[in-house]
Amino acid sequence: MKHLLSIEQLSAREIQGLLESAAHLKLQRGRDGRQLAGQTWALIFTKSSTRTRVSFEVGIRELGGFPMFLSKNDIQLGRGEPIKDTARVLGRMVQGAIIRTYAQQDVTEFSEYSGVPTINALTDDEHPCQILADLLTVREKLGGWEGRKIAFVGDGFSNMTRSWMWAAKRLGFELAIASPASCQPPAAFLANLDAPNVSITADPQSAVRDAHVINTDVWLSMGQEDQKDKEFEFAGFEVNAGLLASAAPGHIVLHCLPAYRGKEISDEILELHADTIFQEAENRLHAQKAILVAIAR
Ligand code: CP
Ligand code: NVA
Repeated sequence: MKHLLSIEQLSAREIQGLLESAAHLKLQRGRDGRQLAGQTWALIFTKSSTRTRVSFEVGIRELGGFPMFLSKNDIQLGRGEPIKDTARVLGRMVQGAIIRTYAQQDVTEFSEYSGVPTINALTDDEHPCQILADLLTVREKLGGWEGRKIAFVGDGFSNMTRSWMWAAKRLGFELAIASPASCQPPAAFLANLDAPNVSITADPQSAVRDAHVINTDVWLSMGQEDQKDKEFEFAGFEVNAGLLASAAPGHIVLHCLPAYRGKEISDEILELHADTIFQEAENRLHAQKAILVAIAR
């Protein structure tokens, strides 16, 4: 594996390998190897972040490297310098790059022009680091996804749902997505995905019924904040006690965070499942250290 650009580009074996490594790194935290000794990794972020930034900065340091945070306002990228020029400059100076931005193509282009290992830290298309942390959490809490039903309630064509759909395709678990009709994945995407284990419905109750994992995310992703009207379409999609009444006994609730209580999740349910949700947030660190170790040169 040279880069981590999407879940789509990973095989089942690579996903399993990263999760094994993440579990191992989590157990031996504090006794890390120094796989990034002497290396500088750039974090190029054109969108806000709490978890991703902090977990990468801490993870790189724990592996012996130096993180260099570059927000778009700090570098010429924010004034229109092309990605491919930025990539060719940084590729001569740093040993790896982590990018959070809008277009998936920008991350791909950076990986091609920089010549250094590149990680997608969220684009409009995918959030692969988050899904690896989520899968690690499902493994820890439920022992794995074999025979489990995973539900996603919310925006059916966000970076999170796209990454979940590719994870379901690769790993074979049942994924039921409930989303307003206007936010469902287009037919062409589903045809390309070609995953009979992924279902899409506009009925949150049917997706959540007998589900072992119920997952949600913000209704408006970063970059969509001006589409406030879209929120009205999500009436009835709050993950709350009423909706979860038909979920499987012992179900868990995931939220990648940040959460908007009273919109995609009720305060009561977030607090009831806080142990899982903040374990999921912590798992960003372990999953990303596994990615760094896998692709560092
Ligand atoms: N879940 C997640 O990626 O959080 P941040 O936006 O805070 O990095
Ligand atoms: N779908 C959300 C995820 C945030 C971590 C967004 O892109 O804003």
